[in-house]
Amino acid sequence: MTTASLSVDRRHIVGPVQRRLFGGFVEHLGRHVYDGIYEPDHPTAGPEGFRRDVIALVRELGVSTIRYPGGNFVSGFRWEDSVGPREERPRRLDLAWHSTETNEVGLHEFATWLEMVGSELMLAVNLGTRGVQEALDLLEYSNVPGGTTLSDSRRANGRDEPFAVEMWCLGNEMDGPWQVGHRSADAYGALASQTAKAMRMLDPSVRLVVCGSSGSYMPTFGEWERVVLTHTYDDVDYISCHAYYEERDGDVDSFLASGVDLDHFIETVVATADHVGAVRGSTKRIDLSFDEWNVWYQSRFAEDEQIRGIDTWPVAPRLLEDVYSVTDAVVVGGLLISLLNHADRVTSASLAQLVNVIAPIMTEPGGPAWRQTTFFPFATTSRLARGTVLDVQIDVPDYPTAAYGEVPLVDAAVTWDEETGTGAVFVVNRACAEPTTVELDLAGLGVDVRVTDAVVLADPDRHARNTLAEPERVGLRPLEVGIRAGRATVTLPPVAWAALSVTAQR
Ligand code: AHR
Repeated sequence: MTTASLSVDRRHIVGPVQRRLFGGFVEHLGRHVYDGIYEPDHPTAGPEGFRRDVIALVRELGVSTIRYPGGNFVSGFRWEDSVGPREERPRRLDLAWHSTETNEVGLHEFATWLEMVGSELMLAVNLGTRGVQEALDLLEYSNVPGGTTLSDSRRANGRDEPFAVEMWCLGNEMDGPWQVGHRSADAYGALASQTAKAMRMLDPSVRLVVCGSSGSYMPTFGEWERVVLTHTYDDVDYISCHAYYEERDGDVDSFLASGVDLDHFIETVVATADHVGAVRGSTKRIDLSFDEWNVWYQSRFAEDEQIRGIDTWPVAPRLLEDVYSVTDAVVVGGLLISLLNHADRVTSASLAQLVNVIAPIMTEPGGPAWRQTTFFPFATTSRLARGTVLDVQIDVPDYPTAAYGEVPLVDAAVTWDEETGTGAVFVVNRACAEPTTVELDLAGLGVDVRVTDAVVLADPDRHARNTLAEPERVGLRPLEVGIRAGRATVTLPPVAWAALSVTAQR
């Protein structure tokens, strides 16, 4: 059996655990909003139409900031359609997903739902079909207390207090030819800079995210970031990153190493941003907002799901409803480890998405809501990661992958909360056939180290899933831990993700 050893020292810190790292993403897409979070006829729905069973699961998931309302959807969206009396709101074509948007749920309703789930609103503005003025109008409507036409119209629409939105995305995936209003890096960079400057004149407290690449596979990756940041460096706080992974052609070894690719992606964007800063002689630092990341079987979407035709614009069709396996969940756990290990620069992130659409939570109209396999690593990491991320030293053999060459069999992240004397270890075993024993040297956390809880996500059938018929087939199981003199030992089954809660005396 393979053995890995891991050690940490509480003085060696990567960065603080930012709560915004555990964000989510709700797009008007498929059955995400309608028949997902909003289903007025559902037995659990409240008077405002939101499903209480879904709210309970979103709370349990522990999502901090939720990006809204898209995604590709936002690039054709007129925000004014989504406010005011419901019966007067227009039905519109959504070009991104070839659907009809009824606007039954808009800014006010979504903000109400966010209060119910206890999450923060992150808004995206449309820089596809629209520009500076419409972004300013939405900001004024949302954040100005009153005394202007737009802010008073918000009050007349039932919201006396401003929404006070701090996080703003300047468009979505503007590098992608599929995006409505797609532009060159130069054209987008100039527009984003003008928009950002004007938004800051209106509200200096906003935190602005400029669009990076839709993925590191994009032919313009790297150069897009350089050009866009050259235009916007002084105007924005974050550059966005998006990444989706899937198991391609049965190559599970590469798929399980997705976190290695994410590490490389993050480090490349950080280097590019710092290069632009260096050329400008700037001491300012641009952080990364990884505001779309997940496992997504995009090849399936391309093959059979796309809706076409001038006479076919369904409301809330079933789109992107991936059913996740144990392997997918282990990859999600590994991606979270990668995000945590870059906590010094990735200070905001959004799992894409939340309900029904490539989501940790699924629902059936009139029926139950349940947790997908990917729910478990996210909820556990969000709950346990507190304080600071520590620099983990791992000694482990590599294994070969077709996509990324030789990669370590085990990856891990450790968080430590100095105030409470508690910490957490998150660890992934990428070995497909063999268990791996992991020896954790935790003496650097303090004396009298104890493991108070340990759970593992793994299954003899790595393809096992939770479905409507079997919603609790996969879940977390207790993991046996041996501990002696500050050293813990666990044996992880093949394709496994695990979390350990620890305490120590300082
Ligand atoms: O999350 C699904 C889609 O993926 C989003 O709308 C888009 O931004 C990305 O391409």
